Amino acid sequence: MKIKFKSLLFASLISITVCTSVYAQKFEELAQTPPMGWNSWNTFQTRIDEPLLKGMDAGYTYFVLDDGWMAMERDKDGNLVADPKKFPNGMKEFADYVHSKGLKFGIYNCAGTKTCAGYPGTRGYEYQDARLYASWGVDYLKFDWCNTEGINAKEAYTTMSKAIRAAGRPMVFSLCEWGQHMPWKWAKDVGQLWRSTGDIGNAFEKTEERNGWKPLSVLNILDRQDSIRQYAGPGHWNDPDMLEVGNGMSYNEDKAHFSLWCMLAAPLMAGNDLRKMSEQTRSVLTNKDIIAVDQDPLGVEAFRYYAADGLEVWVKPLANNELAVCFLNRSAIPLNVSYDWKQHLINDAVSKTSVDFNQSHYKLRDLWTKKETGTTNKIFKQTINSHDVVVLRLTKE
Ligand code: GLA
Repeated sequence: MKIKFKSLLFASLISITVCTSVYAQKFEELAQTPPMGWNSWNTFQTRIDEPLLKGMDAGYTYFVLDDGWMAMERDKDGNLVADPKKFPNGMKEFADYVHSKGLKFGIYNCAGTKTCAGYPGTRGYEYQDARLYASWGVDYLKFDWCNTEGINAKEAYTTMSKAIRAAGRPMVFSLCEWGQHMPWKWAKDVGQLWRSTGDIGNAFEKTEERNGWKPLSVLNILDRQDSIRQYAGPGHWNDPDMLEVGNGMSYNEDKAHFSLWCMLAAPLMAGNDLRKMSEQTRSVLTNKDIIAVDQDPLGVEAFRYYAADGLEVWVKPLANNELAVCFLNRSAIPLNVSYDWKQHLINDAVSKTSVDFNQSHYKLRDLWTKKETGTTNKIFKQTINSHDVVVLRLTKE
């Protein structure tokens, strides 16, 4: 009897597990660290086509095709069709090509009736589109929020999440409703990442107006992340938008932008023209030590520890009791930093990290110069250029 009861219990446990996975909305195992890839939008917008894209070698895992890949009309069966001029061999062939390069393939559509650039949207076709993407071998779906008048964001994204699940192919689901309905509060079980703000432009501090609207700068976006950091973690990330590294900011600004996004445990989607990438841009996008801060398995976002007179100090708790500390100079002039660790105790409720530098000593490694730069026993002194950063990794001595 006992055995029977046990095995019954076991059987019901199994069925509970099976049920949970059948009814789960998203593929839970994906994006345990922030996804990394390349996206066509920031540089090319809808001016994409097969020869251009085949000239790219992303280096990161996901190769994401943004808006403008479709023909203007669905076919007679209601299926989306790749624009035959841009993709003469069709999307399945293109997806196979991306996979043959060892990359995963991402695609874009929108919860509304049309995409932001006016192509057919998914509204009313969620399950059909998800099945089509699965048949092409899509691994990642970015889902936008234009032309959605009158619909409920949580419901619309949940429907698409369930449609992906039902199509049966694991896909990272990237919500792109610009933080308008606080997705950090409800999207944890819906997708793996959600945009937290409007679109980024290629400027560090101030952006220019573009056809009647103004993109956000790196600093505009940074200032909107600190209050939502508690909602991010493995498998569910705040997304402060794609990278503008290599798109016209100065080298210092590119370094600062990249470092700050890594401090924020942001998805890293390069958005530059990889065929014309300078050595400097390449060195920023491939700084392994900075990327390791982004990809740290603890998955905790940095917090702004200190801000005064143009200087900010951001702290990111890492696995194994390590820390990343980023000094950011927001001002227009070089700043002489003198930072006494012992005066700055750390107490982070989100990650339950407390550090008293009078008790614990850490050695410091500068992740841009790649040099060991002393310990927390000494006052940290350095001049930081305008719009530049120093990023240190702290390891216990
Ligand atoms: C929105 C998104 C962008 C990009 C464009 C495409 O603005 O936020 O990232 O996908 O649409 O039209």
